[in-house]
Amino acid sequence: GTDATLNPLSSNLNASRKLPQVIIIGVKKGGTRALLEYLRLHPDIRAVGPEVHFFDRKYENGLEWYRRKMPPTIARQITMEKTPSYFITREVPARVYNMSRDVKLLVVVRDPVTRAISDYTQTVSKKNTKRFEELAFINNATGLVDTSWSAIRIGVYAKHLERWLQYFPLSQFMFVSGEELISNPGKEMGLVQNFLGIKKVVSEKHFYFNQTKGFPCLKKKEGSSSPHCLGRTKGRAHPDIEPNVIQRLRDFYRPFNMKFYQMTGRNFNWP
Ligand code: A3P
Repeated sequence: GTDATLNPLSSNLNASRKLPQVIIIGVKKGGTRALLEYLRLHPDIRAVGPEVHFFDRKYENGLEWYRRKMPPTIARQITMEKTPSYFITREVPARVYNMSRDVKLLVVVRDPVTRAISDYTQTVSKKNTKRFEELAFINNATGLVDTSWSAIRIGVYAKHLERWLQYFPLSQFMFVSGEELISNPGKEMGLVQNFLGIKKVVSEKHFYFNQTKGFPCLKKKEGSSSPHCLGRTKGRAHPDIEPNVIQRLRDFYRPFNMKFYQMTGRNFNWP
C-alpha cells in the first residue's frame, strides 16, 4: 500500500486501478490535451496525466504494468488515458483489441492542413528545420506532396481509420471536432459525454474565452478555484505559409477528407 491507502482520510477501500475503458487515440495536434483536461472535470472520469505510450512503445512491459499506470477508481468511474500516436501506429489496433474488444475510442480531428502546420510549428520550437514547403513537397516545381513526411501522413485520417475498423465497429468511436472544441467547447463536450454515457456535467458554464490566449480556458481547474488555461505549448502562433502552398495541400487532402466524412458519418466542413 502507498501512503494514501494508510491515511484514513484519503483512503477509499473500494478504489482499485483498472485498465482503461476509454482511450483518446489521436490525433497529434488535434486538441487532445484540451479534451483530456475538460473530461477530467467530470467526477465519473479519472485519467492519467502524461501520455502513457503503452501500445506503441512500452507494449513489452505487459498489461499489468499498464494497469498500474492508471489512477485508482471506484466502480462508477471511467478510467482513461490519451496517447495521440496510437491512431497512426500500425500494431496498435490489434493490441488494443487484445486488451478489450469493447473499449471506447476518442479521436480528436482537425483540418489536416492546419494540423500539419501545427505539427511543423511544434518541430520548429524544438529544433532547426527546413522551411515548411521544402518538407511538404517532394519537389517544389512539380508540387507532388511528400506523404512520407509525418506531418502530412498523419492527416490522411481515412487511411488510418481503415486499419482501426478492421478491429472495432464504428459505434465504438467518436470523432471529436478539434475546431468545435475551440469555438464551442460546451456543446462539443456535451456530445462527448453523451457518447460516453455519463451525465452532462461539463458544459459551457465551465469555460470562458481568454482574449490574450485566443482560446477557451477553464473558469476553474479540477481541485482548485482559480482560472486555468492550457500551457504555452498549446495554442502556439503558426508561421505564415504562402497561400498557394496551402491550396496545394487542400487539393491533396480533399478526397481523403471526403472519404473520412463518409466513413464517420460526420461532415467536418474543412476548407
Ligand atoms: P496549436 O498550438 O497549433 O494552436 P494537442 O493537445 O493534441 O497537441 O493539440 C494542440 C492544439 O490544441 C493546439 O494547437 C490548439 O489549436 C488546440 N486547442 C484546443 N483547445 C485549446 C485550448 N483551450 N487552449 C490551447 N489550445 C487548444
